[in-house]
Amino acid sequence: MSTTINRRNWIKSGLIAAGGITLAPKLSWASSADSKRVNPQSIIWEVDHPSYLNDAPAMRARLNANENPHGPSPEVKKAIADAISSGNRYGHGDAFTLIGMIAEKEGVSPECVMLGPGSTDLLEKTAISRFIKGGNIVSADPSYMSLINTAQAVGATWKPVPLTSDYAHDLPAMEKAVDSETQLIYVCNPNNPIGSITNAEDLKSFCKTVSKKVPIFVDEAYLEFLEDPDTNTMVGLVSEGHDVIVARTFSKIHSMAGLRIGYIVATPERIKSITDMVRGTMGLCVTSVKGAIASMQSKEFCDQCKVLNTASREYLCKELDKLGYKYIPSYTNFVIFPLKKDTDGRAFSKALTEQGVGVRMYSFKDEPWCRVSMGTMEEMQIFTDAFKKVTA
Ligand SMILES: Cc1ncc(COP(=O)(O)O)c(C=O)c1O
Repeated sequence: MSTTINRRNWIKSGLIAAGGITLAPKLSWASSADSKRVNPQSIIWEVDHPSYLNDAPAMRARLNANENPHGPSPEVKKAIADAISSGNRYGHGDAFTLIGMIAEKEGVSPECVMLGPGSTDLLEKTAISRFIKGGNIVSADPSYMSLINTAQAVGATWKPVPLTSDYAHDLPAMEKAVDSETQLIYVCNPNNPIGSITNAEDLKSFCKTVSKKVPIFVDEAYLEFLEDPDTNTMVGLVSEGHDVIVARTFSKIHSMAGLRIGYIVATPERIKSITDMVRGTMGLCVTSVKGAIASMQSKEFCDQCKVLNTASREYLCKELDKLGYKYIPSYTNFVIFPLKKDTDGRAFSKALTEQGVGVRMYSFKDEPWCRVSMGTMEEMQIFTDAFKKVTA
């Protein structure tokens, strides 16, 4: 699949004509301690039944957290087993080795790389370092909320910018939203929970211009699922000296979500501004670092995951086509689609859980949307059977 937006697909999906996910008024989180926090227009349901319990014993298809079902790879498992006996020591030396490998792969110096126990840790640390004195953050809405939520929790104001009609970041509008108080722009590309991408050339030119005024955080958690990650990544801007922070994770294509390893790449000055406040390698587990090293050395596994992910996604999309559901074309390991108008989304989600299938539910414009992560082919078939049953 081409990773540039295929307009024919959009039109085929019918979602542009229908206005897609048009905008709902911003709402506050009912359960938030901070009543000032702004809620995304994609309101994530508070789930009051066991579907959110990932470890529910009856879960037959766990498709709610964009995990990769295929790993960890045999190489990672072996490296972790071998590393257990080093568990009495801090893993600084191994972290240094991993940083060196990442620096070489990304074409930057080791001072440009910071590791964390998952990229969430680095999203949060970046938010703390940028917003400890307040300010505002500009991002798309809907988008991944982790960094934005932490920013708001430490006192930032969120300036959400709606996606374009084809679900890309509205870069001109985001640039316009920047003001003298803006401390960071967050871009998630490909974007969770939508699965869409923003054109790489447009994003590069936006980053080059706007990062002169304010740092730009580009979250590339799903980059490796693209056909051409190298042309879509913003990492090259770092070695050119632009104030861009690129985040990656071992949770997705490497299938190591529970092992907790991620990294950011940024200019040495930007990395230092974060590590002056919080420590990088101290939160890391030596077994996971060794696992990440092994995973970087075994490219074949990731290549295979990508192929399997595409096959599961194509299968799901064909099934949805047959059933008459319009989905947003996805460039990731998840697909989001609206349920039929009169569906009671909560009842749907509960019924699916009772079939042992976990998905993530969103509400856009008071309509229930279902985000399905790619599992094994068997899990996708379980999902499809359960979906047919509960929507019959
Ligand atoms: C866009 C995005 N960024 C970051 C993360 C966090 O990943 P992790 O903390 O496992 O690296 C996720 C998790 O789903 C995500 O979707």
